[in-house]
Amino acid sequence: MNIITSNKGKYHEYKKIFPDAKMLNIGYHEIQADSLEEVVEHALEGLKEHAPLIIDDSGLFIDVYHGFPGVYSSYVMHTLGCQGIIKLMDGFDNRDAAFECVIGHIDINGDSKLIRGRVSGSITKTMKGTHGFGYDPIFKPEGHDKTFAEMVTDEKNKISHRGKAMEGLMRYLDITL
Ligand code: IMP
Repeated sequence: MNIITSNKGKYHEYKKIFPDAKMLNIGYHEIQADSLEEVVEHALEGLKEHAPLIIDDSGLFIDVYHGFPGVYSSYVMHTLGCQGIIKLMDGFDNRDAAFECVIGHIDINGDSKLIRGRVSGSITKTMKGTHGFGYDPIFKPEGHDKTFAEMVTDEKNKISHRGKAMEGLMRYLDITL
């Protein structure tokens, strides 16, 4: 299975669940759209020759900002970063947020499937932890007192948006661990 991504952090998480996975950093057409599904659906169109494959589009959705940065998460990471998000949360008691992930999968027959995963949590007041990538140091999943960046990959995979989407994909592919 090819994981089409330029993000080594994402690949590392997939590799834990799909040990034979190969990282294919070929870049694909990412449209600016209103939903992760639209981005993934569009991207899958040009990728069939690399099947079986996975692509993954994810985002951080903050409640008081009505889901921002959401589909703009990558741009906001480049421009504001984690510290910028912490600043944006200044003065808000409600720090609720969610991570969402949409996996696009194409099997060997060329059939495609989209699978979503979501985890609720909150934005921390400071950056914590050194594991993971992206917004992991400022996201604390509900029911846990550590950020994703304070968790090792297996721990994050058990509860994360991507972990849940991977679980869904395994059910779809009829794979048991
Ligand atoms: P994309 O799915 O690669 O477009 O990700 C959008 C942005 O969200 C990037 O800046 C990623 O670093 C960040 N991101 C995606 N998934 C995660 C995650 O699991 N943890 C933390 N940040 C993430």
